[in-house]
Amino acid sequence: MATPLFRRVLRATERGAFPRLRRWIWRRSYNLLSRLSGTPRWAFLNYGYVVSGASFPVSAEEEPARAFIGLYHQATEGLPLKGARVLEVGSGHGGGAAWIARHLPIGSVTGVDIARQTVRRALRLNAGVPRLEFREGDAEALPFPDASFDLVVNIESSHCYGSMDRFAAEAARVLRPGGWLTWADMRSPAMLPDLDRAFGRAGLALRAEAEINEGVVAALDAMEGAKSAAITRIAPLRPVMRQFAGMQGSVLYRALRRRRVLYLARRYQKPG
Ligand SMILES: C[S@@+](CC[C@H](N)C(=O)[O-])C[C@H]1O[C@@H](n2cnc3c(N)ncnc32)[C@H](O)[C@@H]1O
Repeated sequence: MATPLFRRVLRATERGAFPRLRRWIWRRSYNLLSRLSGTPRWAFLNYGYVVSGASFPVSAEEEPARAFIGLYHQATEGLPLKGARVLEVGSGHGGGAAWIARHLPIGSVTGVDIARQTVRRALRLNAGVPRLEFREGDAEALPFPDASFDLVVNIESSHCYGSMDRFAAEAARVLRPGGWLTWADMRSPAMLPDLDRAFGRAGLALRAEAEINEGVVAALDAMEGAKSAAITRIAPLRPVMRQFAGMQGSVLYRALRRRRVLYLARRYQKPG
C-alpha cells in the first residue's frame, strides 16, 4: 500500500502536477513528523552523504549525525564563509544550520521553514547555539529584504515546493550581488530542463555541479540500522516511514541506486 502510494506521489512531482496540493501535503507531513519524532538525535531530516576521506569537525553530540552533516559539509566546502550572513531555506529540525553556526567562520545563520511544528522543534533542539535563529517562512515568498544574505543554503527541500521558478527568484532576490546559492536535491532526469530554466530565469549563474548518488546511497546504508530502530517505535506508520526515510528496498532507495532519480549538488552565484 505504502509503495504504490509513494510511487504515485513521485510521479505527480515529476509531472509538476498539483503544485498547491503538493505544497500542502509536504507542509502537513513535516508538521506531523516533527510532532512524532521525539528523539533529540533527529536534528536532521535529509538522506545524508558519505564519502571516504571527507574530513570535517563535529562535536561529540553531533557525531551520530555525521552522515547527515556530510551534505552540509559538501554544500559549504570552499565557499567564502568569513563573516557571511547565511540563510538556510527549508532548515527542518535545524541540525545543519546549527552545524554551520558552530563550526564555520560565518557571521550569522537564519533558518526558515514552512512547517510550524518543524520550526518549533528546531528552536528547542538548538536553543543556545550562538549566531543562529529560526523562523517560519515560505521558500516561495521569503520574509527578508532584498540583498540581505551572502549565502543561501538549500538542502533536500526544493522538491517540496509548488514553484521552483518562485523559489529561484526569491533566492536571487535575497542574495547580495556576488552572493552564492548552494543547492542539493533529487530530480528525475526528465525534470532537469525545468530546473535549469528556473535558475536561469532568476539570473543565477551555475558555477559547479556534481551528481552525488553514490555518497547518498552510502549514507542511506550507513544509517539503515539507526533509522530502523527509530521507526520501530511508531509501528502503525512503519511502512510509510520506511518509504519516507529512503530505507533499503524503498522506491527512492532503488531509484537512487539505479540513477533513475539523480541527487544533484549545485552552486550558483548571483552576478556581482
Ligand atoms: C527533507 S527536509 C530537509 C530539512 C533540512 N534541510 C535537513 O537537511 O535536515 C525538507 C524541509 O523543507 C521544508 N519545506 C518544504 N516546503 C517548504 C517551503 N515551501 N518553504 C520552506 N520550507 C519548506 C519542510 O518543512 C522540511 O523541513
